[in-house]
Amino acid sequence: MGTVTLINNETNEKFEFEILKPTRGPQLVDFSKFYETTGMFTFDPGYGSTASCKSEISFVDGKKGELIYFGHPIEELVEKYKFVDVIKLLIGNGYIFPTREESQAFERELVRRSYIHEGLRKIIDAFPSGAHPMANLSSAVASLSTFYYDHIDMEYEAEYQTMARRIIAKTPTLAAFAYRSSSGSPFVYPDIDRGYVENFLYMLRAYPHGKLKEEISLLEIDALDTILMLHADHGQNASTATVRNVTTTGVHPYAALSAGLSALWGKAHGGANESVMDQLEMIGSVDNVDKFIARAKDKSDPFRLMGFGHRVYKSYDPRARILKRLKDDLDTKGIKMNQRLVEIAEKIEEVATHDEYFLSRSLYPNVDFYSGIILTALKIPKNMFTPIFAIGRMPGWCAQILELLQDSQMRITRPRQMYVGK
Ligand code: CMC
Repeated sequence: MGTVTLINNETNEKFEFEILKPTRGPQLVDFSKFYETTGMFTFDPGYGSTASCKSEISFVDGKKGELIYFGHPIEELVEKYKFVDVIKLLIGNGYIFPTREESQAFERELVRRSYIHEGLRKIIDAFPSGAHPMANLSSAVASLSTFYYDHIDMEYEAEYQTMARRIIAKTPTLAAFAYRSSSGSPFVYPDIDRGYVENFLYMLRAYPHGKLKEEISLLEIDALDTILMLHADHGQNASTATVRNVTTTGVHPYAALSAGLSALWGKAHGGANESVMDQLEMIGSVDNVDKFIARAKDKSDPFRLMGFGHRVYKSYDPRARILKRLKDDLDTKGIKMNQRLVEIAEKIEEVATHDEYFLSRSLYPNVDFYSGIILTALKIPKNMFTPIFAIGRMPGWCAQILELLQDSQMRITRPRQMYVGK
């Protein structure tokens, strides 16, 4: 067992701490008894150097630009599997379906569970027109705890699974209803004969009574499926850490998930996909790109390039690489991107990835940089980009809750502070 020795240079006292060896990533120093041992706290705002838990769900290699779910590289999952398989992988503790039939049976179960209680529909109906769908969605998920209160006390694997499958199945319905309520249009109920991803597009797009102006194409379903897979889990990001923090208090899991949705909404996190589109529209033309790059570099200007930079990735985000390829692929297959916005985005990437400011800070496009352009081409309204991120992330959050609740080391989250008041 390796150790590190810390020397207090004021008193010459020496303290020894154990080194923990993960299966991947940098070694860790076990500071869980730091206060008891030294009488001091550690100071790490934003937790940039602090691991808050042990997890085997997903791993992000920020230097290499790699992402894995339960050991499977994201590229392999996108190529060989569907989002429903990734859901099972995450909440099934690494289980991957051996056959297509099993995968289809699981998808049918999710679609069967996609209906919501009429009382919940009425709650969503009462939200004012124009409300942001993320506000509606996080409220709806919190409200779901009133319909399934018994999930507060889960003991057996089957109960955990019911809780997770229920919320994962209902999130697309809640997201579509959140949008319909916000735009003042009538709700479209799930269609039991459609797949998980197709059903969401259907509830978003169809006229009441189920008529569609144009059929939902396989290309559209597959594109959204890929986007959801890319968002399914991502280590201890802000919303996942929120879900875990709230769960440690013993609250209802849907309340913790609602807190995660609120954390995701912010534009530094999952709200960035919507902000990227606002920004591309604001930039307006490739001729203005240099001006906005200069603003992003100017420390006296709060302007930041949305969809750029990441706490963990210090190289190209693998999710952004897949999305960039998907955008080109869809365009050649007939799902046309907004060329003006694509040109602006590509010019930003071209300039920024050769500029000293961005290179020295390792700022590259992240998952949100191209996802909005693709979602727009799929005719998804801009205020639904973050709810789509949320549909993608829901299985990851559920997996994190299941892992945490079964972790014997779980303690209520209670960080310290450096008091600087009077
Ligand atoms: N544009 C311009 N400068 C930037 C940007 C940016 N997008 N991001 C970081 N920087 C600069 C920042 O000013 C700082 O410079 P300096 O060292 O001179 O003070 C340096 O890079 C480090 O930035 P930071 O804010 O300390 O980095 P962080 O790890 O705390 O923040 C971030 C990460 C994602 C919040 C940040 O890069 C950002 O605000 N990006 C734009 C929003 C965005 O795209 N968010 C989506 C993230 S990916 C999806 C998800 O998982 O949520």
